[in-house]
Amino acid sequence: MQTKILKAYQINKAVDLLKKGELVALPTETVYGLAADAYNEIAVQKIFIAKGRPLNHPLIVHIDAYEKLEDWTKDVSIHAQKLAEHFWPGPLTIILKKKNDISDLITAGLNTIAIRVPQHPIMLEVINKLGNGIVAPSANFHQKTSPTKPIHVLKTLDGKIAAVFDGEMSSIGIESTIIDMTKDIPAILRYGVITKKMIESVLKLEIECPINHNEKISGNMKDHYQPEKPLFLLSLDQIEMLSKEEVNVAVIHYSKLSRNDNFIYYQMPQDKAQYAQNLYSTLHDIDNTGVEKILVERPPNSTEWNDIIDRLVKASVK
Ligand code: TXA
Ligand code: MG
Repeated sequence: MQTKILKAYQINKAVDLLKKGELVALPTETVYGLAADAYNEIAVQKIFIAKGRPLNHPLIVHIDAYEKLEDWTKDVSIHAQKLAEHFWPGPLTIILKKKNDISDLITAGLNTIAIRVPQHPIMLEVINKLGNGIVAPSANFHQKTSPTKPIHVLKTLDGKIAAVFDGEMSSIGIESTIIDMTKDIPAILRYGVITKKMIESVLKLEIECPINHNEKISGNMKDHYQPEKPLFLLSLDQIEMLSKEEVNVAVIHYSKLSRNDNFIYYQMPQDKAQYAQNLYSTLHDIDNTGVEKILVERPPNSTEWNDIIDRLVKASVK
């Protein structure tokens, strides 16, 4: 199959392809998503095939408005409603009890379902014109680095999907926060730019955070988000020490450091939001170079950086 590149004026073409049960990679504010019509079982199956994704990893359903929640979920608590009203549209995925008639393929047979209203105008327009929910995992091959630009999508999915929308770089740059609202105490299952603190201040109660790796939740697997080259998370001192011995290495850092001509340096912004926006794109850029290793300066040990640390730990060599 030849993967088409859709331009800004071709939103209706994206909708037509989805109506025909094809897969289209679309921009969202977090990362690019691999979209399929959530009501088309065969289209949903195609996602698992194109991504090489195991069937036991459930998908997020993207809807265009809070009011559509009742098409997919039941027993939505007041707390869950509060979060949805406060953070949607935006980078928060809420796990809720699913309605009985929802395909087991979407939810991997669980009795819960992940729902998000994204903020990106193109994604919202496509969902609205399709008139159905859209399932959209990150548009990358299973366990690889998520895409924040169309070119990143083509790297692992070219020839496997009908089209990719030629949109701008994702403004947030890492996947949505996932919160499970089906338990007595809400629990964050995946860190993202919507933090524990932000959620607690809306709910006015304490919530839990991920402790164990849960293989059912693909973003929660030990090995994920992996670039082509082995990645090591190190202190600045360790990096400077290695720079005396090693050659052909890429260094991702945000502090000032002494440079070595054998290394390629990627200076990251100190601002956390800007760091997040650029992280995956930097990892994709490094994949295109001839380096043999990636050394990443360990980000600040503060809760604000939880999402970045989580992704880097999962991307790193254990
Ligand atoms: O920002 C995002 O969330 C992006 C954009 C495209 O919206 N999507 C994304 O999808 O990151 P994906 O499939 O790469 O990650 C979805 C995560 C997986 O870790 C999956 O296991 C989890 O959501 N998930 C889905 N349904 C779930 C459920 N019922 N219970 C627990 N986790 C669930
Ligand atoms: Mg993913």
